Amino acid sequence: MELTQFGCEDWLNVWEKSAKIDIAQSTIDSLTLEEILAFEDDGGKAFMENLMKEKFSYGWIEGSPAFKSEVAKLYTRVPEDNILSTNGATGANFMAILGLIGQGDHVIAQYPSYQQLYDWPKTLGAQVDYWEIREENNWLPELSELRRLVKPSTKLICLNNAAQPTGAIMSPKFLAEVVEIARSVDAYILCDEVYLPLDETTDYRPIADMYEKGISTNSISKTYSVPGIRVGWVATQNRELCDEFRKIRDYTLICTGVFDDAVAALVLKHKDKVLARARKIVKKNLAILKEWVENEPLVSMVFPHDVSVSFVKFEQLDPAQTEDFAIQLLKEKGVLIIPGNRFALPGYARIGYCTDESTLRQGLQALSDFLRVYQA
Ligand SMILES: Cc1ncc(COP(=O)(O)O)c(C=O)c1O
Repeated sequence: MELTQFGCEDWLNVWEKSAKIDIAQSTIDSLTLEEILAFEDDGGKAFMENLMKEKFSYGWIEGSPAFKSEVAKLYTRVPEDNILSTNGATGANFMAILGLIGQGDHVIAQYPSYQQLYDWPKTLGAQVDYWEIREENNWLPELSELRRLVKPSTKLICLNNAAQPTGAIMSPKFLAEVVEIARSVDAYILCDEVYLPLDETTDYRPIADMYEKGISTNSISKTYSVPGIRVGWVATQNRELCDEFRKIRDYTLICTGVFDDAVAALVLKHKDKVLARARKIVKKNLAILKEWVENEPLVSMVFPHDVSVSFVKFEQLDPAQTEDFAIQLLKEKGVLIIPGNRFALPGYARIGYCTDESTLRQGLQALSDFLRVYQA
């Protein structure tokens, strides 16, 4: 079994702890346990008292009723029984792809996006065709190209909506066309939906509500600001498929643990407050990011639509130098970004702008300063 190095994760593993000014992360400014408990009317007193008395057994194997009922509220067509908790969205994608894909299967994957969505199927022996995103198309791929790529044997189409590293969003209208193409060859669609668009006017629907062979994966890591609780899920209308995933789960996970499950359920119970906070951060910081881009001639950007990741283009940097630039930026200025070559797009970088305001401002200023020094 050959597994390719996971570009952006490997970059973060090596470099993130040396950052003084981290503007690389895709999570919206992570919450503390204290902040999460404060969403409760009694400041989390009852929650903590119950937790202190809870036996740390395996707990609810597939996710507690409280957790499943909160997740089910995010969908209109997915019953609680068809929701399985996983170890983050990474665990959900891993399990779904393992459940569906074997040697020789044909997979189409939005490319580049989250590397797991194309390199994990390849490792399992699939023949993977890339459905390429295009900057001139607001970082979306073309439907005509998907029609060309699809075959009677296509088993799975992997999507990331909203997408990383660009923050691009596929509208329900666009997705409905993707569903029609998938349906024409009876293919499944797996959509990693960890980045929820935070502008309330954005038209957005999870794939599990749109397609009988759709699988939504998600977690509390990004939009919900709690990656330190390793809880994600798969959701599908399709009971048979869910039972396949159940089998794999018994071999790879068993459960996500009593503590993580309880905190995840609490975060989702207060999703309105969590999302209101996230929305405020995204709106404020996106305005700062836009102002910076508009006043910085050395960069340009197709702006994300209230999604927590953004992808900046370096106008005068030699694309071959992208990784070296990012390493020198970190060493000289302490600023962490993710160079675009880690997403197969050299000449760009991912900026996670949803950190605290002062970190963002300092990071962008230092990036501007260093672009001049490096290019000179
Ligand atoms: C698209 C996407 N999916 C999944 C993950 C990982 O999510 P989790 O922490 O829930 O495993 C990431 C992390 O960067 C991501 O960008």
